[in-house]
Amino acid sequence: MSTEYGNIPEETIDAVLKQHDIVETVGRFVHLTKQGKYMKGLCPFHSEKTPSFTVTPDRQIFYCYGCGMGGNAIKFRMEIEGLSFPEAVKIMAEEVHIPFQSTGGKPESPQDRETGRLLQAYEWSEKFYHFLLKNTEHGRPALEYLRGRGIGDKLIDQFRIGFAPDRWDTLVQFLDKRSFDLAEMEKGGLISARQSGDGYVDRFRGRIMFPIANRSGKTIAFAGRILGEGHPKYVNSPESRLFNKSRVLYNFDQARSAIRKQRQAILFEGYGDVIAAWEAGVHNGIATMGTSLTEQHAAMIKTAADEVLVCYDGDNAGQNAALKSIPILEQAGLQVKVAMLPAGVDPDDYIRSNGGERFVRQVVEDAASTTKFRLATLRRGYKLNEENGRLDYAKAALPVIAALGSPTEREVYLRELSSEVDVSFESLKQDCNLIRQEQSRPAPGQEDPGPAYSGPQPGGGGQYGGKGRGRGDYGNKGGFGKKGGFGGGNGYGNAAEEDFFPQQRRTRPNRDLLPAHQAAERRLLFLMLQDRQVCDYVAQRLGDEFNTPDYAAIAAYLYAFYAQDRDPDSSRFIASLQDEKLEKAVSSIVMMEGAREWSEQELDDCIKQIRSQGNLRSSGIERKREEMMRAEKDGDFLLAAQIASEIIALERQ
Ligand code: CTP
Ligand code: MN
Repeated sequence: MSTEYGNIPEETIDAVLKQHDIVETVGRFVHLTKQGKYMKGLCPFHSEKTPSFTVTPDRQIFYCYGCGMGGNAIKFRMEIEGLSFPEAVKIMAEEVHIPFQSTGGKPESPQDRETGRLLQAYEWSEKFYHFLLKNTEHGRPALEYLRGRGIGDKLIDQFRIGFAPDRWDTLVQFLDKRSFDLAEMEKGGLISARQSGDGYVDRFRGRIMFPIANRSGKTIAFAGRILGEGHPKYVNSPESRLFNKSRVLYNFDQARSAIRKQRQAILFEGYGDVIAAWEAGVHNGIATMGTSLTEQHAAMIKTAADEVLVCYDGDNAGQNAALKSIPILEQAGLQVKVAMLPAGVDPDDYIRSNGGERFVRQVVEDAASTTKFRLATLRRGYKLNEENGRLDYAKAALPVIAALGSPTEREVYLRELSSEVDVSFESLKQDCNLIRQEQSRPAPGQEDPGPAYSGPQPGGGGQYGGKGRGRGDYGNKGGFGKKGGFGGGNGYGNAAEEDFFPQQRRTRPNRDLLPAHQAAERRLLFLMLQDRQVCDYVAQRLGDEFNTPDYAAIAAYLYAFYAQDRDPDSSRFIASLQDEKLEKAVSSIVMMEGAREWSEQELDDCIKQIRSQGNLRSSGIERKREEMMRAEKDGDFLLAAQIASEIIALERQ
């Protein structure tokens, strides 16, 4: 959205970057020590004891190997000081006496101005409602209702809660007096048009107002709750140019720093849950807007977290919603755990009756793995006190367990199942293996995908890729064994970097080895970032056929970047992206430190590798993945497990 970033002229951004050295900028917050070409220190964005945060003066960027945060000096200031992009640029410009005008040569478009006015109106309305709640007679009953629910002044301020009086035109008059265009306000969802067609009335009447903010903390919508019982319980702002439910998470703005620190987000169903959890000291809580979780939500969470704890109501609806959210989160690359609440209790109730401490100890810390949760949900459909029920449950549970990649995990769940259904562990294990064999017929007898990755070879020779661990074989047979090749299969570098971060390499548990095609994509981008000739070469031959969506996006931006006749410059390129996820991806690619030399042969090899993956995908894996997601969404776990094993088999081929 252009207004959020403002129309800042390139020259201003360039000048700001030129005058703010990255080492100096970071050095004010982080103690850095020199290590060869890098500076190194403890990451300010996540907790760590050994430094994995690096600054590269040559390229004017920072990157953390621990949490993946990275970017240029502007990005650093944004993150550390919680600023938006234009705010950071403005402050940094002023610090070095560069004139800052946010509209540059280009005039603001009418759409930008409308968005600006609407944001202003939402901000004022929010303050107005907040004032009415706290300081007027109208707000008294609402204030009492909130207090009765344990929401006192501190929380009311923290969440900027307000009250809309039960009258026809309180807000309409407020906005009108301040010369807002009422038609525009109606379009923006703040007020409603009268049915008769003449004039406007308040959309929210007699309701407690929960402001909903975008990720930079600006109010873009409201949820209005009725006092006590009644229908509808909530009235929400309609979608508008500011507000898109599938892209907004309640409290994400306030929770982001805690999420980032803990690398974990807690996903609730209701606003009340988020607020109650906050009071209990749980500050990484977020919620959807009463709609299902979307891919965009998951991607948004992924920018700050590695793991999500799904904490929905303990009723059937809540459990089913959790089953739907899990695959979406997993698909985004997040680890997922599920908090199991007693039936019929929501997190808010739980906290109110058991206290925050117990909530943390017994719900958050005791969260279950998704497998455990799936089995528990499945189990509810069977009568375990009858023999037939037990056997049927075992039959249903086995494919779920068989689909697990790790033998250890399978063993744990098989043992548990054994005691639940009163069948010996050995027979269950046999059945489980049979299912696995059936599921992976193309490669029989291959219990595990084999020994892990064997590179990188000392001296930087050869292999990248290697064998995937538990995800099928991504190995690349020949073709890329070039001198000065890609180094380690995790895509972050070569022998030189190995020396530089010996301990991180070993202690970073869940950085899986990258599939060969992905390493090839990273290698191409790495070269493209520093050489426009490579970029042209790839543009002509591969175009947008990168398999990894983020990499395809980066390539597209790079093509555009060079098309403006610009010289290679990672830091400026990053500045032009304005997308957190892509910024991080580019930073990590720039940090790869592979050989800078390249040959057309190498580029061709990479392109071939990427294409062959593309063919593989279209030949079915991708389609199967979609089928699997659909089956999971429909709650058909038997089918999902079966498709999962077909995918594993396909990947092995
Ligand atoms: N919701 C909604 N409209 C409704 C009911 C619910 O948008 N009529 C959404 C809201 O986002 C709400 C969430 O669904 O937060 C969960 O619903 P529910 O559990 O009924 O509401 P709570 O937030 O728990 O409300 P309270 O505890 O105040 O009853
Ligand atoms: Mn509730």
